[in-house]
Amino acid sequence: MLLIVVWWMVAIMGAFSDPQANLLSAGCSQYKVDSVPEFTKNLNATLLDLGAQLNSSKYFATAEQARGTAPVFAMVQCRKYLSTADCVACFAIAAKQIRNCSAGINGARVIYDGCLLRYESTSFYDQSTQDGHYGACGNQTASPAYQASVESLLSDLQIASPKIPGFFATSKKEVVGEKSVVYGVTQCVETISKAGCQDCLAVAYADLQTCFPDADGRSINVGCFLRYSDTPFFADNQLTDLKPFLRNGSKSKKKVLIAGLVGGIGLLLLATAILFLWFQLHKKPKSVPREGDILGATELRGPVNYSFKDLKSATKNFSEEYKLGEGGFGEVYKGVLKNERVVAVKKLAISQSHRAKAEFEKEVKIISNVHHRNLIRLLGCCSNGPELLLVYEYMANSSLDNFLYGNLNFVRTSCS
Ligand SMILES: *[C@@H]1O[C@H](CO)[C@@H](O)[C@H](O)[C@H]1NC(C)=O
Ligand SMILES: *[C@@H]1O[C@H](CO)[C@@H](O)[C@H](O)[C@H]1NC(C)=O
Ligand SMILES: *[C@@H]1O[C@H](CO)[C@@H](O)[C@H](O)[C@H]1NC(C)=O
Ligand SMILES: *[C@@H]1O[C@H](CO)[C@@H](O)[C@H](O)[C@H]1NC(C)=O
Repeated sequence: MLLIVVWWMVAIMGAFSDPQANLLSAGCSQYKVDSVPEFTKNLNATLLDLGAQLNSSKYFATAEQARGTAPVFAMVQCRKYLSTADCVACFAIAAKQIRNCSAGINGARVIYDGCLLRYESTSFYDQSTQDGHYGACGNQTASPAYQASVESLLSDLQIASPKIPGFFATSKKEVVGEKSVVYGVTQCVETISKAGCQDCLAVAYADLQTCFPDADGRSINVGCFLRYSDTPFFADNQLTDLKPFLRNGSKSKKKVLIAGLVGGIGLLLLATAILFLWFQLHKKPKSVPREGDILGATELRGPVNYSFKDLKSATKNFSEEYKLGEGGFGEVYKGVLKNERVVAVKKLAISQSHRAKAEFEKEVKIISNVHHRNLIRLLGCCSNGPELLLVYEYMANSSLDNFLYGNLNFVRTSCS
């Protein structure tokens, strides 16, 4: 009898304690760092640091060893519905799995249902979305009614969670006319902006639409996680109240405010409203980043090939106002990409033969994967427009000039 009770208790405990270490995605960079022993030592230190932070009840942590010749930046995130013990357990599994990449490579990531872990040799904390994102779909088909509930649940989560501190939300919805219930969770990395979270979730939602009408799906990306399922994967007491975040404030308050304003400064309000409407109508629709758009550096996939059109608009058509200077091989401009990332764009004043272009692309691929604290990162290039362009990390200090105007040997050897 006692044995049965003990067995039953263990079973119950087991049911409530689950680190959700179901591996969804794992990736290793193909590029090695220069000093493998130092990088490994730094990686060990950052992973220890992350573990200790989770142990003190955190669900999101970053740690870095940024000095020295082999910098390491690392990030961990647990779903907040997990217990601290489960979060620490998920991390322990992730930390072991991430070692399966060969030693000394400059980046790796693993994503589980319960947590994610990533490290790189340069900071990636502000990355919201990146090439290679996808929807991991289930294998059971659900009904149209279920799908309607999924769409409504995901759209609520997508609207609400960027407004919630910590960017985390769970929700569930009963399916009309059926017994089934759909459960969902969203979570963004805490070091990106609210706008970055919104962008990532829009991409995630689009990725999950490829899963419909499957009964469950998960979106895989660098800045956010979105999952839905017909099986509960968190307890009911972990549900987030989304209502306050689905509307902009309370309606009655708004009415009182508007009435007051109209009474007081009616004409002014009308004029403002007309102006506002005019701007809304003439504003370009906000584009949602898709695969192939400018998404930032891609450590695991080589350099980004930027489109000429995007770089032209990022530099306001290479305007004087955005010009940073002129070097031996052409002019340098500040650029603001669609994802708000600030970059330096160098226009190369070299002839564009077929061979030069091919060499240029090859060289960019090599250079963009060299990560060193004294070098400015080359993020990518553009060779499909009327000019050859190089895109660098933007740094508002003198080292930028040194790199852009000084050491440009790789361009000279490959493109002349
Ligand atoms: C780093 O950690 C790994 C795995 O725990 C271990 O095998 C290795 O010896 C450690 N390396 C250094 C330099 O501390
Ligand atoms: C976490 O804390 C427990 C005590 O609360 C301790 O025994 C354990 O070693 C800690 N783990 C880490 C990784 O710091
Ligand atoms: C670790 O990597 C090897 C190949 O290097 C692979 O065969 C193995 O399945 C990996 N293990 C896990 C747990 O992913
Ligand atoms: C569906 O996927 C689950 C795991 O997600 C697996 O256990 C099951 O066997 C799969 N079923 C079919 C029919 O492929």
